[in-house]
Amino acid sequence: MKKIGLGADHGGFALKEVIKKHLLEKGYEVEDFGTHSTESVDYPKYGKLVAHAVIDKKVDCGILVCGTGIGISIAANKLSGIRAALCTNVTMAKLTRQHNDANILALGGRIIGDVVALEIVDTFLTTEFEGGRHSRRIESIESCELF
Ligand code: RB5
Repeated sequence: MKKIGLGADHGGFALKEVIKKHLLEKGYEVEDFGTHSTESVDYPKYGKLVAHAVIDKKVDCGILVCGTGIGISIAANKLSGIRAALCTNVTMAKLTRQHNDANILALGGRIIGDVVALEIVDTFLTTEFEGGRHSRRIESIESCELF
C-alpha cells in the first residue's frame, strides 16, 4: 500500500484531517507533516516539507491543502522533480496522473467540499501514468529545472 505525505496550512487543516481519516480507513500509510491546528501558519513550509519527502522517497506521493490550493502548490513546484497539480474535479485528478505523472495533489480547503475532495483523492491515488508521448513532455519540463 502506498505511503502518502500530507501537509496543510490553517486554511487546509480541516480538509487534511478528513483526508487523513479517509486514507487510514482505506489502509494507506500516512505521514502527516502538519499543520496540526487552525492557528495561522505560512503554507510554503508545509509545501516544502512534503515536497522534500517525495523527492527523498520517504513517501510515494503527497497531498497538500491550503485555502485555495494555489500557494502551497506553487511552493511545492519550486523543488526540482515535483509535479504538484491543483485539482478541483475528478477529471483533472485523472488526467494529471495519466498525462503529467503528478506526484503531489493540491486541494483548496476553502474551495471544494469534502465529498468531492475525497473522490479527487481516490482518483489521484489509483490512476496510473500513461507514459509514451507524455514522458517526453515531462523530460522537457525537467530540462528547465535548475538542478
Ligand atoms: C491563507 O490565508 C491563504 O492565503 C492560504 O491558505 C492559501 O489560500 C494561499 O494560497
